[in-house]
Amino acid sequence: MENTVSKKCGISREEAVALMKQYLPQDNLQKHSLATEAIMRALARKLGHDEDIWGIAGLLHDLDYADTKDRMDRHGLVTAEILQERGVNSEIIEAIKSHNADNLGFTRSEAFQHAITCAECITGMIVATTLVYPDKKIASVKPKSITKRMKQKEFARSVNRDYIRECEQIGVPLPEFAVLSLEAMQGISDELGL
Ligand SMILES: [Fe+2]
Repeated sequence: MENTVSKKCGISREEAVALMKQYLPQDNLQKHSLATEAIMRALARKLGHDEDIWGIAGLLHDLDYADTKDRMDRHGLVTAEILQERGVNSEIIEAIKSHNADNLGFTRSEAFQHAITCAECITGMIVATTLVYPDKKIASVKPKSITKRMKQKEFARSVNRDYIRECEQIGVPLPEFAVLSLEAMQGISDELGL
């Protein structure tokens, strides 16, 4: 199984997790990466794309964050260099770059590109929504709370709502995307500590 993943992705999931943890020692970024992976896998299953390719892209999308957080015009490009050197599938690398397309000067057009963007953004909304529940448990969160909170401009204001709404461009209405993403993150609640 790992061997098949290695062949098509150019990296096994185990190696990808280790690489992500090596570059992102911060607990919150590791959790963000795992959450993005879980949502990408669920989206790939739903839309008939390759779950491993979409999942690995989610897992590795912020690999260079520690290096590039103060120079967003490099975010994704440094990751691309690291992954190219390791022989990772170029489809994964291009999708990773696309989640920062605005700063890199291009426009997203493919399903994979919209998926990685909406997936990584909704993780922030889901975590913030979970933390306002009395028990702070993701298992308690209702999907409607997420869409309701999204409409409140002041709530988790750093989370880009337009990016989350890119789910509509891959044929997944926002309420449905909220359910899918919440369930995906609930499935790894232990790893997320939520
Ligand atoms: Fe991210």
